[in-house]
Amino acid sequence: MLTPTGKAVAPFELTAYKSLDNEELTRRINAVRAEMGPRLLVLGHHYQQDEVIALSDLRGDSYKLSELAARNEECRAIAFCGVHFMAETADILANRPERLAQRNGRRVTVVLPDMAAGCSMADMAEIEQVEDCWEQLGDVIDTRDVMPVTYVNSAASLKAFCGRHGGIVCTSANARAVLEWAFARRSRVLFFPDQHLGRNTALAMGIPLEQMPVWDPHRDDLGGNREEAIEQSRVILWRGHCSVHQMFRPEHVDQFRQRYPGIKILVHPECMMDVVARADVIGSTGKIIKAVEESPPGTRWAIGTELHLVNRLKHQHPEQEIHFLSPVVCMCATMYRIDLAHLCWALENLAAATPVNVIEVEEETSRYALEALERMLEVK
Ligand code: 13P
Ligand code: SF4
Repeated sequence: MLTPTGKAVAPFELTAYKSLDNEELTRRINAVRAEMGPRLLVLGHHYQQDEVIALSDLRGDSYKLSELAARNEECRAIAFCGVHFMAETADILANRPERLAQRNGRRVTVVLPDMAAGCSMADMAEIEQVEDCWEQLGDVIDTRDVMPVTYVNSAASLKAFCGRHGGIVCTSANARAVLEWAFARRSRVLFFPDQHLGRNTALAMGIPLEQMPVWDPHRDDLGGNREEAIEQSRVILWRGHCSVHQMFRPEHVDQFRQRYPGIKILVHPECMMDVVARADVIGSTGKIIKAVEESPPGTRWAIGTELHLVNRLKHQHPEQEIHFLSPVVCMCATMYRIDLAHLCWALENLAAATPVNVIEVEEETSRYALEALERMLEVK
């Protein structure tokens, strides 16, 4: 919008930001950060571009970012540089009832600089499909003995489903502890939406593959399974995956091992089982960073996770030799949507009290999702 004198007034239009260079955008983003001070928290996931990471107050993996959103008492607004499910989680945790009461009902405004920053894996499980799965399972087994576990990479409605059914959320940082928690309470787990994280974690706990049927949500015959397979199951895996991490293949690991004897393979648990089985270290983005930081000069790595993080580690650790595990570019196109133009646009609108791209989870969904998220934060 323009005044008669041609000066822009809030709400500001995104198009006006697209022609600005990074120097100008950085200056303006920093001006908003200085003006808002501790009332504003810019959170950045490790897959963000370097220039966005540089302007984030705090960064982390999904677990740490959830904790940060849950813990912060000062901020009144969060700009989430990550993807949609992460911003939803921040909204639920930052606006849980006791925090709202402390602030006399005032909400923390959570904004996602680009609404198109979704997660293709999260989109592979829809609430109607999960409810249909639960109903079909109920025809074959007693669902009171099935623990629903959702990976944090899922819509708030799926987290609420878990909350309603006594279930829990996990991240790649605490998946094993969460499965142990689940098996201490029920004899089976329904794990969605990432089959790989579920399979890799359960295998490491000694659960055999035969007891892990895969549920295909696009089939209406028990997800493509025979009744006996469901009856004998311990972990029912949802047929979902990360399109970025599925690009890392076992042959890539073999090629690196052949070419560089002694090289260490470091991968995210969203990679397929045959890659994880060949790796030396497996962990969340936080654990991947820690593994490199704690290694001596001269350590040689091939890392299987999103490209921006691997490139950053390469630049930050020239004393080590870091390779990207795949010969093809594997980057998260949705994380990449958050750029300085979107961040500056979102922040200047926040500062002008005309917030754009606000993520606010509906009240009932939020209440049940919180139950499952609070369990997640208790299980480390
Ligand atoms: P982390 O929780 O390990 O940061 O992973 C999030 C993610 O989306 C990986 O693809
Ligand atoms: Fe989702 Fe994969 Fe991107 Fe992570 S890397 S946000 S799982 S699409």
